[in-house]
Amino acid sequence: MILQNSGISKEEIFKQLEEKQKQDFDWRTGRIFCSVYPAGEEIEEIAKKAYTMFLTENPVDPTLFPSLRDMETEVIGKCSEILQGGKEVVGTLTTGGTESILLAVKTAKNRAKSLNPSQTKFELIMPYSIHSAFFKACDYFEVTPIVVPLTPDYKADVIAIERAITENTILIAASAPSYVFGVVDPIKKIGEIALKNNVMLHVDACIGGVVLGFNRLAGLKQVPEFDFSVPGVTSISMDLHKYGYTAKGCSALMHRNKSYRKHQYYACSEWTGYTLVNPTILSTKTGGPIAAAWAVMKFLGKDGYCEISKKTMSTTARFIDGINSIEGLQVIGIPEVSLFSFTTTQGNPYDLFDELNHKGWFVQFQLSNDYSPANLHLTVSKIHENLVDEFIKDLKECHQKVQKKGLVKKAAEKVTIETAKKLAQNLSPENFDKLGKLLGFSNGKVPEKLALINKIMDVLPPDTVRNTLIDYMNDFYTLNQER
Ligand SMILES: Cc1ncc(COP(=O)(O)O)c(C=O)c1O
Repeated sequence: MILQNSGISKEEIFKQLEEKQKQDFDWRTGRIFCSVYPAGEEIEEIAKKAYTMFLTENPVDPTLFPSLRDMETEVIGKCSEILQGGKEVVGTLTTGGTESILLAVKTAKNRAKSLNPSQTKFELIMPYSIHSAFFKACDYFEVTPIVVPLTPDYKADVIAIERAITENTILIAASAPSYVFGVVDPIKKIGEIALKNNVMLHVDACIGGVVLGFNRLAGLKQVPEFDFSVPGVTSISMDLHKYGYTAKGCSALMHRNKSYRKHQYYACSEWTGYTLVNPTILSTKTGGPIAAAWAVMKFLGKDGYCEISKKTMSTTARFIDGINSIEGLQVIGIPEVSLFSFTTTQGNPYDLFDELNHKGWFVQFQLSNDYSPANLHLTVSKIHENLVDEFIKDLKECHQKVQKKGLVKKAAEKVTIETAKKLAQNLSPENFDKLGKLLGFSNGKVPEKLALINKIMDVLPPDTVRNTLIDYMNDFYTLNQER
């Protein structure tokens, strides 16, 4: 029985929680390049304390908790300044980049419907490199994604965007920067097109907006234009729980003015309960992330953020130079913020991933796509400053090892990959099961080595990859399975 009859002591609970935490990647070492943005113990402590102080408060009712409304509007005001917003810019704190993006798409669709109630088709134009959250938004809100190509510098093709505009277009989306390549789309030119065609333009600055903003404020050269200073930009998403260094559960969705934000709100007068009106997808939630964002932004101030931004950019440049100096490794494109991808012309990046993992480093793998081969992705933050040399040394060793093993491994793996391809041609339930097992996706276990899985996923049709991942996750979140 999982639900025990009586409770256990506080001491025992925290002992058990500490035990559980031992399974996790120790992000405090800094040997991880995704998912976390550590900026030091003091900042973490401030975020934690502020978060727990407002853990129980609920922003769903600002009349009950005016402190949360005050803090939210102050944080949004700061975000507006970072994004050169001016007086009319407004915003909302959401629970993360994905929620901000979902809401940006919902806003555009609702606005289109209010301007033209007979419109039945809704299209969102977005470059190939856009974040998956936009596909999710299209799926949730029944909007058709119109994906346009990139130019050789991995940026959105402006001409293709203009050509794709139809009477059904509700929104253009572009990135500052794209997660995949770390480059900023030509926002100024896209803004001109948006204005000319009277279409809304959302800039996804979820990951890089804070860094870009403070790079500009710190006086760094060649900061690309991406914010409200660009005519035509109608909304921007900027996550504070990434490079804002606040607690998870916090992103800002900003609009050029209230006439746009209006369409983000939802109000319900049909049901018999309390009056409901709010700008976000969630209703009840903790006030923690709002308080943590307020506290960390107050603590760091403009100077603190500028300092961290400059350091992060110089650390990134050292990583890029170090990687490019290793023969056979190559950073993709010319990254403009503190994240980038690199690939290998000798050996396979997925093998490199496993080797790095073996040495205690966690980078992120990205499958091959129409523009680049399979690659490894690094999101660099403050904590990496003193780890560059060690990482480059280990990377060099791992790269050499992968090259040595390469040919032997290739032959053995070829058979498995061919089997996977054959199974994928006829995905009967039985073959689906076999494919899952071949990929190591069975019994809710995490396979130890991921290189082979990635290589197989790379050659399977996207539909098969999608379905297999869903099935695997569906399995993974069940009790009583060997892990
Ligand atoms: C460019 C970009 N947009 C959106 C998101 C989604 O943000 P979240 O994971 O907070 O939902 C990310 C996450 O890394 C991102 O890099």
